[in-house]
Amino acid sequence: MQIQVPLCRATIEDDEVAAVVEVLRSGWLASGPRAAAFEEAFAQRVGARHAIAIESGTAGLHLVLAALGIGPGDEVITPSLTWPATANVAELLGARVVFADVLPGTLLLDPADVARRITDRTRAVMPVHYAGAPADLEGLRAVLRGRDITLVQDAAHAVGTRHRGEWIGGGAEPAVFSFHPIKNITTGEGGMVTVSDGPLAERIRLLRFHGITKDSWSRHQGRGGVRYEVLEPGWKYAMSDLHAALGLVQLGKLDRFNARRQHLAARYETLLGDLDVIRLPQAPPYPHTHAWHLYVVRLQLSRLVIDRDGFIGALGELGIGAGLHFTPVHLHHYYRRDGRYAPGDLPVTEAAGETILSLPLYPGMTDEEQDRVVAAVRAVTDRHRLREQGGTR
Ligand SMILES: Cc1ncc(COP(=O)(O)O)c(C=O)c1O
Repeated sequence: MQIQVPLCRATIEDDEVAAVVEVLRSGWLASGPRAAAFEEAFAQRVGARHAIAIESGTAGLHLVLAALGIGPGDEVITPSLTWPATANVAELLGARVVFADVLPGTLLLDPADVARRITDRTRAVMPVHYAGAPADLEGLRAVLRGRDITLVQDAAHAVGTRHRGEWIGGGAEPAVFSFHPIKNITTGEGGMVTVSDGPLAERIRLLRFHGITKDSWSRHQGRGGVRYEVLEPGWKYAMSDLHAALGLVQLGKLDRFNARRQHLAARYETLLGDLDVIRLPQAPPYPHTHAWHLYVVRLQLSRLVIDRDGFIGALGELGIGAGLHFTPVHLHHYYRRDGRYAPGDLPVTEAAGETILSLPLYPGMTDEEQDRVVAAVRAVTDRHRLREQGGTR
């Protein structure tokens, strides 16, 4: 059967379309005034001193680590329950990723396990605000206090997340957001880096555009003449105005989108709460606002005669698009080479990696569509439940 309720769907309305058309007609499509306006609006929204728009969250993570001077000989601690980008960017810079485990309840980075894995080579720790719940920043800050290690927040899931009253992105540490179409707001592809440190922000901007002192928009406007200077090699990672125009409109709808996500998450909890084969997401024990980027449940496989991949496949046959966030990164070919990591190294992550699945969640999802998801989950559960006599279907 064709997928009828997808895992995600971006909400694009007439004003997004009009904003992009306006840029197309404006004569300036590359990074320019709209990207600058989006940066300003985003900084204001989260309370950041500096916001830097880039072409993807991955590019943002890459830039932050590069701007911090992380490279060969350095170690960067990340969770393994994440998208590969979190780890890959450190390896791309010649550093070595060290994976730490997550907490069994929330699946957020475990500060105690981070503490165990710190060495004198550790330069950065990168928590992921998994599914839109804030990582335990207070616990991580306590572990890092007095050490020369930067906390870099992978905030790809956290547009609209708060940790103890602080908007993610508004704190002292660098944070990196993603605006991929599955995320809470989208620019098609895109991301934002927020930082409080002025010189670090300047270096990120420099590396974002070839290591050149002046971007093309200022030269186009004739500001400071046409000459430019390469201070060091950089990348070409700035967000275009076409993408930023989308982002500006989407940012204005963030509260509405996230309120709808919140409503749907609460409804899942009510509608699935009695199912003994499914473990629902567990909220962090500290005050927070959850952005509900993803709704990740865990299967109690001992009560089923089907594995997680089979469960996702069975939902697909009923027209429901479920997802997997994520396959533990340390189990991928590259990270297992040379015996660096092996099954058993991160038990909580590995157990989650076998049992998690993400149910459809997006602002445009109707209650009726959600009811179909719930009915499909119940149907698959009924069909594949372990019966008394040992697993007859
Ligand atoms: C946890 C996490 N970090 C980083 C990224 C990378 O973001 P982008 O796709 O914008 O490069 C993603 C994207 O899905 C993600 O889920």
